[in-house]
Amino acid sequence: MKTNKVENIISSVDRLPTLPIIYTKLTNLLQSPNATAKMISDVITEDQAIAVRVLNLVNSAFYSLPQKIGNLKHAIVILGLNQIRNLVLVTSTIKMFKEIKSDSSFDMQKFWEHSIGCAVAARVLAETAYLKSPDDVFTGGLLHDIGKLVHAIYLQEDFTAVVDDVRESGLPMIEVEKRIFGCDHTYTGKELAIKWNLSQGTVDMIRHHHMSDNPAELTKEISAVHIGNTLCIALSLGSGGEKKVPVAQMKAWEILDIEMNNLETIIERIDRLFNESVVILES
Ligand SMILES: [Fe+2]
Ligand SMILES: [Fe+2]
Repeated sequence: MKTNKVENIISSVDRLPTLPIIYTKLTNLLQSPNATAKMISDVITEDQAIAVRVLNLVNSAFYSLPQKIGNLKHAIVILGLNQIRNLVLVTSTIKMFKEIKSDSSFDMQKFWEHSIGCAVAARVLAETAYLKSPDDVFTGGLLHDIGKLVHAIYLQEDFTAVVDDVRESGLPMIEVEKRIFGCDHTYTGKELAIKWNLSQGTVDMIRHHHMSDNPAELTKEISAVHIGNTLCIALSLGSGGEKKVPVAQMKAWEILDIEMNNLETIIERIDRLFNESVVILES
């Protein structure tokens, strides 16, 4: 019985749309030594909605650039192709999933707010801990619960049962999912991330963000998404369907190596950046 559901989930991952062609083109350019800012900006401007969001994000408080950036070419030179590609991945994923209709009672608006909240919180934690690429962590945070969307769209009846059970029992969603599906949303999300050819780091952030499976190697990036998820639930930034605020594992704080007395400043910055990000990404 459970095996069938897991198989259904995997086949539903196969049915999911692929990432927009623009993302694939950027990935190819990233591997080319001859890529120029003009070639990259030509690819992004093929999708005006994405181009506008990328520019708005570049000009947001995340980057605190001293002057407003008016064109993509300039943004690419300043931020680099990898960061721009991350922004394209984030904006195109939200756009793509919003175009898929679902009758599920799950609140999609709140789900995206939770995803943006986790992305912002994980990014702020990554900056505070001086990680190499806070943008990669932002992407991992934004996609951390993407497996729930796959369930909501393709396994509606069972997913509704999961959501109702969590609402009544207050149990963590991954526990209820394992009981009903035989696997949880981190597994489904990982399958989708692999299908999309996302980086191993992103796959790991999605797969281990609950830190429930004792992965062999816990990275600072995974720890940032793990704590970011807890913080945005505690701060009620959207909702991913959990009834209770999960406890962030002490191990995550230790790996990230952040002073606890920084927490007030961290929360203030999350709050400010969250509101701005929702306006940009949801517009
Ligand atoms: Fe999750
Ligand atoms: Fe979450």
